[in-house]
Amino acid sequence: MAKKKGPNSRSQPDYFSLKAKKEGYPARSVYKLEEIQQKFTIIRPGNSVLDIGAAPGSWTLFTHQKLLKGKGRIVSVDLKPLSLNPIPENVTVFTGDAFTSEMLKNLGDLGPYDAIISDAAPSTTGARTVDCIRSQNLAEAIISIVPTHLKTGGNLVIKIFQGGGEQEILFAMKKMFAKVKTFKPKACRNDSFELFLIGNIKNDTIKE
Ligand SMILES: C[S@@+](CC[C@H](N)C(=O)[O-])C[C@H]1O[C@@H](n2cnc3c(N)ncnc32)[C@H](O)[C@@H]1O
Repeated sequence: MAKKKGPNSRSQPDYFSLKAKKEGYPARSVYKLEEIQQKFTIIRPGNSVLDIGAAPGSWTLFTHQKLLKGKGRIVSVDLKPLSLNPIPENVTVFTGDAFTSEMLKNLGDLGPYDAIISDAAPSTTGARTVDCIRSQNLAEAIISIVPTHLKTGGNLVIKIFQGGGEQEILFAMKKMFAKVKTFKPKACRNDSFELFLIGNIKNDTIKE
């Protein structure tokens, strides 16, 4: 059967990849954050933001250029180095596992943050059960640092694979945040089973 084509298909070149290239972003995932921000206003100029799973750096760059507008700071962490060159002045980058005790201390020393945004994803195996469990482990690790690393009243964005225990994660988030929403940006690929969980949205910022 022929592969489905369209703006989000993996057939090359796809609309969002081309747009990212044209606009100078290293990954098409930038447009997912743009949609999240448009709907939930999770970041404001002057905020301090922790970006987990930040490589190659589109969310960091977009946050720096468009959301903070030069005011505020970003701490970005990933297993891999970011491809931004140069790294903007108000961005601190850590390379390594975000959840080792040493890294958590590094991240904590620069926190707490107004927003924690995570597009972190495990490298996929193709076995959906395995991938979902790994995604759930990452989401749980992020939830576990909310009390120490996010300011009271701060906002949270977590990516999770559908089938990766999102109901449990939502349940945990509902205990921590005034409002919790699930969101699937249009920029997600047609065949993607990722979902974003958003925490602590004030009523007046939701655009239904
Ligand atoms: C989809 S990519 C993120 C893309 C990024 N938001 C951007 O716009 O450029 C997912 C990233 O999560 C990272 N990641 C997965 N597990 C991690 C962990 N335990 N600590 C830090 N980064 C992790 C991966 O290395 C990968 O670079």
